[in-house]
Amino acid sequence: MSKLDEVQHRFEWDAANFAAIYNSDSFAFRLFNRVFRKAIFARYEIAMQETGARGASILDIGCGSGIYSVELARRGAKRVLGLDFSEPMLEIARASAAQSGLTAQTEFRRGEFLAHDFAGETFDVTIAMGVFDYLEEAQPFLAKMAKLTRGKALASFPKWSIVRGTARRLRYRVTRRGDVFYYTADDIARLATSAGFARHRLVRIASSGGGWVLIGENQREATIERPRS
Ligand SMILES: C[S@@+](CC[C@H](N)C(=O)[O-])C[C@H]1O[C@@H](n2cnc3c(N)ncnc32)[C@H](O)[C@@H]1O
Repeated sequence: MSKLDEVQHRFEWDAANFAAIYNSDSFAFRLFNRVFRKAIFARYEIAMQETGARGASILDIGCGSGIYSVELARRGAKRVLGLDFSEPMLEIARASAAQSGLTAQTEFRRGEFLAHDFAGETFDVTIAMGVFDYLEEAQPFLAKMAKLTRGKALASFPKWSIVRGTARRLRYRVTRRGDVFYYTADDIARLATSAGFARHRLVRIASSGGGWVLIGENQREATIERPRS
């Protein structure tokens, strides 16, 4: 099985568990996630602050259970396309959009990002949150994001920490969840430059072992309304 198949397989059988990180019925599990998976919530806050959703067309790459897609549609995005190669994740995302009355603004499509043909469509905003953790080859992925982005691209990158990083790698190997990849700020800056963004900056995820959110910017007929301060 290739590394990519391994990641896809993992997010097929683990979809419900991943979705529960955000909205489990169990108070204890919610508390555990808030304490030990702080970075997931911190990067969500950064993405919401940085994305001017109103009137924008948005591509959510590796949309998972649709937590970003649905919220951005709720905030006024005119179109959100969520792409993921895990069908069970997409089923959760579609159900969540339907429950929020946001099916008209959202589309959830199955596909592997690098292989997917967007048929010439480009987007005001592209996001890939919690995805670069699983990529053996980050460069072509980010370069394709840059090409598809008229305005802003947001992508999270995990930072290596000896305790958390080792524990996560070990846990993934033992439970056959595939590999996980880490980045330094210099790695991300190099990737962003070679991807071809007009400019970029990094926002530090304020939690231990959190990493960064890369904000890549282009100026190609963007129709984004800036978020109100
Ligand atoms: C950790 S989850 C993050 C989900 C969502 N972005 C979030 O932050 O809640 C990563 C998701 O990316 C998807 N994914 C990873 N690599 C992908 C690829 N190359 N093409 C499409 N989807 C991918 C997985 O199936 C999974 O649903």
